[in-house]
Amino acid sequence: MRLELPARAERFGANLFYQVQKIYELDGGLHLDDEFSSPFHVIQQIPQDKLHEIEQDMAIVIPVKDERLRLLEGVLCGIPHACMPIIVSNSKREHVDRYAMERNMIDTFCRYAKKKYVIAHQRSLELAELFRQGDYPHLLDEEGLVRNGKAEGMLAGIVLAKLLGKKYVGFIDADNFFPGSVFEYSSIYAAGFAQSKTPYSMTRIQWHSKPKVVGSDLFFAKWGRVSRITNHYLNMLLSHYTGFETELVRTGNAGEHALSMPLALLLDYTTGFSIETYHFVNMMEKFGGILDCPYPEVLKAGVEIFQVESRNPHLHEASKGNDHIREMIEYSLAALYHSKLCPANAQKEILLELKRQKIIGKGATPVIAHRYPALINMNFDAANRVADWAKHSNFVPA
Ligand code: GDP
Ligand code: CO
Repeated sequence: MRLELPARAERFGANLFYQVQKIYELDGGLHLDDEFSSPFHVIQQIPQDKLHEIEQDMAIVIPVKDERLRLLEGVLCGIPHACMPIIVSNSKREHVDRYAMERNMIDTFCRYAKKKYVIAHQRSLELAELFRQGDYPHLLDEEGLVRNGKAEGMLAGIVLAKLLGKKYVGFIDADNFFPGSVFEYSSIYAAGFAQSKTPYSMTRIQWHSKPKVVGSDLFFAKWGRVSRITNHYLNMLLSHYTGFETELVRTGNAGEHALSMPLALLLDYTTGFSIETYHFVNMMEKFGGILDCPYPEVLKAGVEIFQVESRNPHLHEASKGNDHIREMIEYSLAALYHSKLCPANAQKEILLELKRQKIIGKGATPVIAHRYPALINMNFDAANRVADWAKHSNFVPA
């Protein structure tokens, strides 16, 4: 890949948030090009061999809930061969067993492609047992099973990736229409990690555009309502502490993101649509130098956050309507509102925004999302004894 060097960045304690990087070539050549040995350039080359090296250590977690099999198959097809897909499904098992259909399709696909994979049902006993043995009961509900929800599926995915010895974990939704964009996202994740100088890093994708039909034409929208609002308030929080107004944060709702394993294990997570926004808030809380940080080694090494603009348009299953958007806005802003870092004036503005959007009424405060503490304290050795997941790649738990 050939992409811009991130010349500008905002520092917030140990966090380095880089500006959005533009891609010049998706395939930037197999080996390092001599021309890049000169220090004077604005574009960098990350050769394919470097991307491949990282992809071997990367799992791609695909959260699935009752998506069309054809779309899911397209997503599998876009994942580079070296990356291991981990499918965490919360699809129906009653009446029509959607999960069995997914398993069959994925198993056949991966046999043909000779590709390793792991699939687990979010509500399976085996997955729940892993968290019970690993002494991480937070993810389990009254029935003793992993809670419902996309964020919960993502957490389970991180843990499976860790048990499989992966160093990086990326997320890609199952309802993506373009295998080409899935391929691009995976390469971008690897390119982000190739640039990082610390073990604690994250890559977030800014969608190039989301095509919509307006009248009889295609319109390539850049910003959705949710991300416009979320980014505005995240930038406000950043500006409050740095004293300089900024617009650098562009990926406050990036569902498409990847984390290095050491960072993935240190962050706290929230449920629902706030999980991606809360990454930023939690990194500012944990590594911002304002609140206590129990991890001096992270403060020393630093945390790097890359934002890369994809070239493919993003097209996924048709939007789930206005309520879905309102819920996303509320959860995203709630993640900021309830943070100890959020100053009173920003809280006031958030309340005004939510009222203006008719999301909350007078006198109300935004929801408090369920929170999951960092996975670092989980007992992975004990969890590992539940099943040999590495041996289980190409294996389908019941
Ligand atoms: P949107 O793209 O933000 O509108 O959200 P989607 O409804 O498309 O969900 C994003 C991804 O998460 C899709 O691949 C869904 O199938 C998946 N998903 C949604 N809910 C759950 C869940 O409870 N568990 C799991 N494992 N995946 C889910
Ligand atoms: Co979607």
